[in-house]
Amino acid sequence: MKPIIKYRGGKSKEIPHIMWHIPRFTGRYIEPFFGGGALFFYLEPRQAIINDINTKLMNFYRGVRDDYSNLRRELDEIESLYTNHRQEFEALKALHPDERVEDKIAHATG
Ligand SMILES: C[S@@+](CC[C@H](N)C(=O)[O-])C[C@H]1O[C@@H](n2cnc3c(N)ncnc32)[C@H](O)[C@@H]1O
Repeated sequence: MKPIIKYRGGKSKEIPHIMWHIPRFTGRYIEPFFGGGALFFYLEPRQAIINDINTKLMNFYRGVRDDYSNLRRELDEIESLYTNHRQEFEALKALHPDERVEDKIAHATG
């Protein structure tokens, strides 16, 4: 499985190079610096402990594990907001190509 988010420093591209060095193992996979979890999602271990110092990131993964339908609804709302703002921005930009127009996306996500 591929990582569920894009994350700076992710190891997805390195997997084909490092997979040969990963020993077969039974038991629990422990990933103290989870980030995007490229190796975890590649290995799909049955049992694992994951950790990251980034609280927002860990809360996101908790949301995926414990409350996926609510997280899915929130992500759909953000996507819809983004799509609407993008359309407004492009319409305004088409009307005033040489002027600076407000980009609500930057305000909504920043
Ligand atoms: C490059 S990412 C890890 C990539 C990941 N293991 C993979 O397979 O794609 C590094 C992660 O380590 C986390 N990190 C850095 N210092 C840490 C610390 N002291 N304790 C826990 N996590 C830490 C960062 O928040 C970041 O998410």
